[in-house]
Amino acid sequence: MTGTPYATMIEARDIRKRYSTTTALDGVDLDVPTGTVYGLLGPNGAGKTTLVRILATLLRPDSGAARVAGRDVVREANAVRYRIGLTGQFAAVDEKLTGRENLRLFGRLYHLPRRQAKEKADALLERFGLAEAGDRVVSMYSGGMRRRLDIAASLLVDPAVLFLDEPTTGLDPRSRSQVWDAIRGLVREGTTVLLTTQYLDEADQLADRIGVIDRGRLIASGTPGELKGSVGGTRVEIVVEDPSRLGAAVDALRHAVDADPHVVPGARRISAAVDGAGGDLIAAAVRALDAAGIVTEDIALRRPTLDDVFLRLTGHTT
Ligand SMILES: Nc1ncnc2c1ncn2[C@@H]1O[C@H](COP(=O)(O)OP(=O)(O)O)[C@@H](O)[C@H]1O
Ligand SMILES: [Mg+2]
Repeated sequence: MTGTPYATMIEARDIRKRYSTTTALDGVDLDVPTGTVYGLLGPNGAGKTTLVRILATLLRPDSGAARVAGRDVVREANAVRYRIGLTGQFAAVDEKLTGRENLRLFGRLYHLPRRQAKEKADALLERFGLAEAGDRVVSMYSGGMRRRLDIAASLLVDPAVLFLDEPTTGLDPRSRSQVWDAIRGLVREGTTVLLTTQYLDEADQLADRIGVIDRGRLIASGTPGELKGSVGGTRVEIVVEDPSRLGAAVDALRHAVDADPHVVPGARRISAAVDGAGGDLIAAAVRALDAAGIVTEDIALRRPTLDDVFLRLTGHTT
């Protein structure tokens, strides 16, 4: 089902949804071009899962309309279901079965012929780095392995669109980067992905476009560069022990990291916006400060987080 002729794979107009007194979605519009990754970024309770469930036909909107792969999610829900994959925050796989058994079972649930389910399961295990672990029971898997198995299960039917609801929440950094690699692989093959996340760096790593959602409304959207640009990007920050050396530290830092540092008012802190994210900037700053005989209490690379984006956009933290 790849190579669908839709320029826009996901299209939502003024989607609204309430749960009794809670407004979960308050008029959301969305356009996701075919073959791209859209990152829906927002804190807990923002409405991410509600939107995903509506787009995946598991929940009806109160009003508004959405089309996925050219089909209406309410009136043509069945047709949509055949074209999508969904992986939630909590693994849907059976702990007592092996990875391979799980995938074969899912294949049968999707009505794949037995032989095809078997072949597909083997191919997916291979592709997600689980070939060796395939015959172990899932209860022995790490968090990252489980999540990859879960994503593999949602790909048994070659969906045109994949919804990933907080694919790395709760994972350790190593498992997280394994899941990121798996997602990047899918994207290279042309799958359109909508992923939700609470992490700016995750959206930055994976998404072509990011929408920031807060209390059921999209409050900003743009490329990762645009969004990070609006919060100032990566900064090198140092805290100087002796306040009389602040000026000297600014000079040293200016040359070392090729930026225009400023002193944070009322603090012994200097902040410099830098290009790129390299740790070598820190090394250069340390060397330059050391050469100038300046003692620091702290020196760090600060990447903007969802909190920074929120503070900037809404004036409040998440
Ligand atoms: N089944 C439900 N019944 C009542 N309120 C709900 C239900 N599901 C979600 N909510 C509420 O709707 C809002 C949005 O929730 P959700 O879509 O799960 O956000 P997110 O996935 O961004 O954390 C929250 O205030 C949440 O408490
Ligand atoms: Mg959620």
